[in-house]
Amino acid sequence: MALEPVRTAVVGCGYISDIYLKNATTWGILDVVACADLDMARAASQAAKYNVPRAISVDEVLDDPNIEMVINLTIPAAHSIVGLAALRAGKSVYNEKPLAISREDGRLLLEEARARGLRVSCAPDTFLGAGLQTCRALIDEGAIGQPVGAMAWMLTRGPDHWHPDPAFLFKVGAGPLFDMGPYYLTALISLFGPVRRVTGSTRITYPERTIRSGPKAGTPITVEAPTHIASVLDFASGPIATLLTSFDVWDGYRPHVEVFGSRGTLGVPDPNTFGGPVRLQRDGDEEGSEIALPFAHAENSRAIGAADMAYAIRTGRPHRANGEMAYHVLDVMHAVFEASDTGRHVELASTCERPAPLPAGLPEWHLDA
Ligand SMILES: NC(=O)c1ccc[n+]([C@@H]2O[C@H](COP(=O)([O-])OP(=O)(O)OC[C@H]3O[C@@H](n4cnc5c(N)ncnc54)[C@H](O)[C@@H]3O)[C@@H](O)[C@H]2O)c1
Repeated sequence: MALEPVRTAVVGCGYISDIYLKNATTWGILDVVACADLDMARAASQAAKYNVPRAISVDEVLDDPNIEMVINLTIPAAHSIVGLAALRAGKSVYNEKPLAISREDGRLLLEEARARGLRVSCAPDTFLGAGLQTCRALIDEGAIGQPVGAMAWMLTRGPDHWHPDPAFLFKVGAGPLFDMGPYYLTALISLFGPVRRVTGSTRITYPERTIRSGPKAGTPITVEAPTHIASVLDFASGPIATLLTSFDVWDGYRPHVEVFGSRGTLGVPDPNTFGGPVRLQRDGDEEGSEIALPFAHAENSRAIGAADMAYAIRTGRPHRANGEMAYHVLDVMHAVFEASDTGRHVELASTCERPAPLPAGLPEWHLDA
């Protein structure tokens, strides 16, 4: 029997809302009933573009008892404010990343949801894509033997080179670790489970930067967040990963992530994408080869995490991109900064379950397993 779609509002109709609305209105399990934004013109134009019946204010979303779930695509500083208001109005929440900026706000979201029997889910959901699910299956079936460690790199010149309005990306709560780290950390947690302790070093290479493109070109930016962060992550299951995130370097290093095992090395795709390539090298086959992806959702499938939560709401099972994992990611990022500031390892107070893998062979736009 078909499950009843979950009546959903999208709050925050900016840049990233296009792919969410395109995909969310395709998933049969989501019924997108409203778009909302502080800027009503944006809400109205996105509602019209994606055939969403209503463009309403955030307060009207909160006051509508018919709406069961909010997909919160506002700016990071508003993630916890909008998320908490939605929970207090009785709605489950899917936040864009990071879950919140402070640990305290992250914890408030989890506690409010728990007290009300509601759900919190959070981006990134790229770990549900074909590429990262293939990596997970290979590790779980022992293709590289026992996992020993990983290297992950997110190295760029910084968004001041291309983003038309990048100042917020250099402020507290952003920088390369908070902005991009969630993709890498969530991917590694999906592969290895939770982190036990971290250490790290951070620096700000360019305290003053200048917007390079668009109408604000020439405007100075004072950098507040660390922009080059080297971190070491000890996973509770044993592997040790090195994660380097930077807005300060000339060009990146490929691949984005490699996982090293006792019998092989796995080339993991960019965790900001849903597809491949996945590359496997093993003892006796040093050249290695690209692995076919036996999972669906290799295209840009943003909103798959929200669809997974909608299935979970209807069937009563746990959802995969869950709030506990997103809180653990937030805790890890704060702990790396603390480790750098205090010159030590920091033990993580939080933990999380490794989310359940997806079964291979599911068709596109279908997740009720
Ligand atoms: N831009 C990207 O490539 C990208 C990719 C992945 C994830 N994200 C994440 O998605 C989120 C949104 O990013 P974006 O690029 O779409 O930003 P954006 O600035 O283009 O859009 C944000 C929208 O949220 C609205 N908004 C802000 N505060 C609000 C509030 N309190 N109530 C209602 N609406 C509010 C703004 O008016 C704006 O329309 C961020 O958390 C970002 O980290 C962005």
